[in-house]
Amino acid sequence: MFTAVEMAPRDPILGINDAFAADTNPSKVNLGVGVYYDDNGKLPLLKCVQTAEAQMMETPKARAYLPMEGFAAYDSAVKSLVFGADSEPVTSGRVVTAQGIGGTGGLKIGADFLKKLTPNAKVMISDPSWDNHRALFAAAGFATESHPYYDAEKRGVNFDGMLASLKAATPGTIVVLHACCHNPTGYDITPAQWDQVVQAVKDGGLTAFLDMAYQGFGHGIKEDGSVIGKFVAAGLNFLVATSFSKSFSLYGERVGALSVLCSSKEEAGRVLSQVKLVIRTNYSNPQIHGATVVANVLNTPELRAQWEQELTEMRERIKAMRAKLVDGLKAAGVKQDMSFITNQIGMFSYSGLNKDQMIRLRSEFGVYGTDSGRMCVAALNSKNIDYVCKAIAAVI
Ligand code: LMR
Repeated sequence: MFTAVEMAPRDPILGINDAFAADTNPSKVNLGVGVYYDDNGKLPLLKCVQTAEAQMMETPKARAYLPMEGFAAYDSAVKSLVFGADSEPVTSGRVVTAQGIGGTGGLKIGADFLKKLTPNAKVMISDPSWDNHRALFAAAGFATESHPYYDAEKRGVNFDGMLASLKAATPGTIVVLHACCHNPTGYDITPAQWDQVVQAVKDGGLTAFLDMAYQGFGHGIKEDGSVIGKFVAAGLNFLVATSFSKSFSLYGERVGALSVLCSSKEEAGRVLSQVKLVIRTNYSNPQIHGATVVANVLNTPELRAQWEQELTEMRERIKAMRAKLVDGLKAAGVKQDMSFITNQIGMFSYSGLNKDQMIRLRSEFGVYGTDSGRMCVAALNSKNIDYVCKAIAAVI
């Protein structure tokens, strides 16, 4: 029966993890997947998470099924975080939020929901984008196209190209936008440019689907989420996928969500019913543990303050590593100006290295980034940075 099954290509990001795990080089460094490690190279277990879990263990609970849309206290905490607790969309009841299996799950629920609603729409994705965006929307049955984003010469965003593509898009096109910390490039557009994007989405009758997987890793929770307010102020209906994988260091708990901003509470009720149908036919209902941890932290003032502090520390450490990388590359003999690394934001640096150079980094030095030249700056630390700088210098 399976004789005709072909070997699928390696996942461009998670496949790097497999190759890294198999490497016996004692100096190996994994800058492939977007995961934050502390200065000792350890995956952090946040203190706010530990406290919330200890409190949960004091009153152990039996595990019934959650509702299809997830844990109510979690969904409401997500809504408040994304839109603002006192914001009109939340108080009027026109936001639908469903717990998702990670940010990817949020995207997938949204993609399946949109496919039923607008089966002939195209999906427009930035060039480049998170590798799984195109795969996920294609798997949901959509034809995908891209809009320009990265400008290699300028080391920044080709904003004119992006805007022109959005303006030329067919009405009804679904546009996947990175709310903050663009993955993989690390270059975000400015607030003024966002205003133009919002206007183009509005004028062109496009559907915005925002991916906000890195809220808090750019400039701060509020700052990184500010683009949501721009879409709300424009009176648009849109979708947002969010994730706590990175911001709570809860990767393996798969805690994410999909939020859909509708026109009215009544419309939200109908949208929720369709979102529940998508969830029911995919995995029935989500898991309890991670969502309870996140809800308890976000809804308990002391724990929330602690989370914001811990998130700030992660963000600041990444920024410090960016500066050290620039200095370290110079010290290692790299002649070209690498200061663009400190203009990038979030977990990643689009290094400008080509595929051959990335392969050499892996095979000769055990330094793993993606073939596209993306490196996870959040995995650099004071112990591995010199080694990484020397390795990069050797292949440039
Ligand atoms: C990444 O881009 O590395 C992360 O979002 C992890 C993933 O699932 O690809």
